Amino acid sequence: MSPPLFEPRRRLWLLRTPSTSYAVRIDEDDTVRHVHWGAALTLEQAGELAERTPAAGSSFDAVGGAEELAVEGGARFGPPSLQVRFADGTRAVEWRYAGHDADDGYLSIHLDDRHYPLRLTLHYRVHEDSDVIERWTTVENRDERLPITLRRCDSAAWTLPGRGGYRVSHLVGGWNSEFRLRRAEVATAETVFTSRRGLTSHHANPWLAFDDGTAGEEHGEVWSTALAWSGSWRITLHRDPAGRTTWTGGHGHEGLTWSLAPGETLRTPVFAGLFTAGGFGAASRAWHAYVARHVLPHPGEPRPVLYNSWEATGFDVDEAGQTALAAQAARIGVELFVVDDGWFGGRVGDHAGLGDWTPNPDRFPHGLRSLSAEVHRLGMRFGLWVEPEMVNPDSDLYRAHPDWVMHMANRERTELRHQLVLNLARPDTAAWAHAWLDRLVAEHDIDYLKWDANRPFTEAGWPGHDDPDRLWIEHTRAVYRIMDRLRADHPGLRIEACAGGGGRADLGILARTDQIWTSDNTDPVDRIAIQHGFSQLFPAQVMGAWVTDSPNVATARQTPLRFRFHVAMAGALGVGGDLATWTEDELKEATELIATYKRIRPAVQHGTAYRLTGEGTLTAVGFAHEDRFVVLAWCPSRPYGHQPAPLRLTALDPGATYRDPDTGATYSGAVLLRSGLPLSLPEGDHASALVQLIRIED
Ligand code: GLA
Repeated sequence: MSPPLFEPRRRLWLLRTPSTSYAVRIDEDDTVRHVHWGAALTLEQAGELAERTPAAGSSFDAVGGAEELAVEGGARFGPPSLQVRFADGTRAVEWRYAGHDADDGYLSIHLDDRHYPLRLTLHYRVHEDSDVIERWTTVENRDERLPITLRRCDSAAWTLPGRGGYRVSHLVGGWNSEFRLRRAEVATAETVFTSRRGLTSHHANPWLAFDDGTAGEEHGEVWSTALAWSGSWRITLHRDPAGRTTWTGGHGHEGLTWSLAPGETLRTPVFAGLFTAGGFGAASRAWHAYVARHVLPHPGEPRPVLYNSWEATGFDVDEAGQTALAAQAARIGVELFVVDDGWFGGRVGDHAGLGDWTPNPDRFPHGLRSLSAEVHRLGMRFGLWVEPEMVNPDSDLYRAHPDWVMHMANRERTELRHQLVLNLARPDTAAWAHAWLDRLVAEHDIDYLKWDANRPFTEAGWPGHDDPDRLWIEHTRAVYRIMDRLRADHPGLRIEACAGGGGRADLGILARTDQIWTSDNTDPVDRIAIQHGFSQLFPAQVMGAWVTDSPNVATARQTPLRFRFHVAMAGALGVGGDLATWTEDELKEATELIATYKRIRPAVQHGTAYRLTGEGTLTAVGFAHEDRFVVLAWCPSRPYGHQPAPLRLTALDPGATYRDPDTGATYSGAVLLRSGLPLSLPEGDHASALVQLIRIED
């Protein structure tokens, strides 16, 4: 692809994606200012806009055009993206432009401090097949002797065009209630979205979307960003009284520092952004395509139908029980059998054993090898749950290495779920974690790891280390490195990201995993909302979704098997019920539904997703793929027993005819688009439908 366009007179750059443009310029005082992010512009048009972008004023307000990465220093009063402290105590930064590099789809702008040996580089990358712009920064200490303290170093700051007001869409949640979509007016204030937990968190996700309050699912301008980082993070949104709307974000929460050693360079994670004029649905589809093309390691591979007994058996796993479940799972069409928590050390409950990663001899007298072989013999892949970052104090590992956990002198070690966090920023701890994982995978023919992390950081100290705060960054980097190395050394290995459900879902973890355990909440009604939020950023192929027992363990809600399947079939389908208790009729129905899923899997996992809204509580997702449009529709409640009006579809050819292979019915595209698809839902609450529509060649 071609390099960004450059206009030397104005020192103006224009990055181009297939349907959008992004422009920045450098002021007379060498400040890098934002010019444009939105619909495609020519360099000339961007130049016209650049003329309007105000330089720093000299008035009381002193508001200039928004900066690409505002530093602490000078007459700047908004949230800084970069805060440093030099060895002599000086805190402000003053830039001198130090050149740029431009290559295919890539731009970097270098800035040097006018006095101190600090270099900042702003990086931008665009792709031929995506409107996503990737941004990150590097900061380099060019001194030979003295460290520089970084108090904040964001990946990027983003700016919206000046408008009367904006709305922000974001995700909130908690354990068992992740990814709930919220939309709120952007306040004239600083609004912080953050995780201080050391993990991405259930509570907020580093994804945001903005519109002027008028966008809908299929129309309107939407700007959206996502941070590719799986540890603590912070995004500060700022709408100032002059109406300027910006947000700056990066890894680490407030108050953490990083001592940049002489010669050291810190590279931040990617903060990706995209603009679309096609509404929230188009924004999600653009994210999904970006994740598939530029983030996931194996986007083209079908995600197997998995079985996991966690909800069915809890910690009560043993060879006989798992072997029996594996036989049932294989019978109904499962392709990957995952043994969850409880297989190792003294782990018979959540109070002990984490850290002792050898099979429990009482439960697995033949080790795990015979179970692994049996699962493979049944034609399934074999997966195992691990939690490599954690330790129970009641474990041999902790008794041998109490100093391996994050801790602080003279402070309690706060236990959550009876466990502590290992400090993987320590090279010895990271080497230990890599070694046992590597051995485990190799010796047991493991195809799949469910990598869990069930608690946040507390007392995140590193006694004896002279820059202990770096563990907040280095721990996450170590997790990435271990995953990357395991994948490189075991090319067949696939990894599921889990943190007590969906507590670590982000573009950083997805670059080295294959799917995410969306939530421990498997209630299908709650899942509709959870999946709706999850789908804002993430594609269906990474959304782990299990069919479990009824009544649901989390909510006690009773729902039909078919409804549970239809909700889970909108993601990477799994089964998590106690198959030993399912009736022959249920097993038969499950077998049929799994077979159907395999037929629609190319559409769900590799098609294009359209969120659809019907009447009342009716919602649906349609997946367009080749000549097919697959609809999964859910109606949790039916006031007055009324059948909802036909579901209006989207993304069909109005001139084409579509056939439902299950009923033989044919529909014209125009009717499906304008009047909708009649669903004939079964009676009662928790009704659902799966309809395939195949375009008929004329
Ligand atoms: C977390 C996961 C669950 C299960 C348990 C095991 O809560 O989200 O799916 O693996 O841990 O302890």
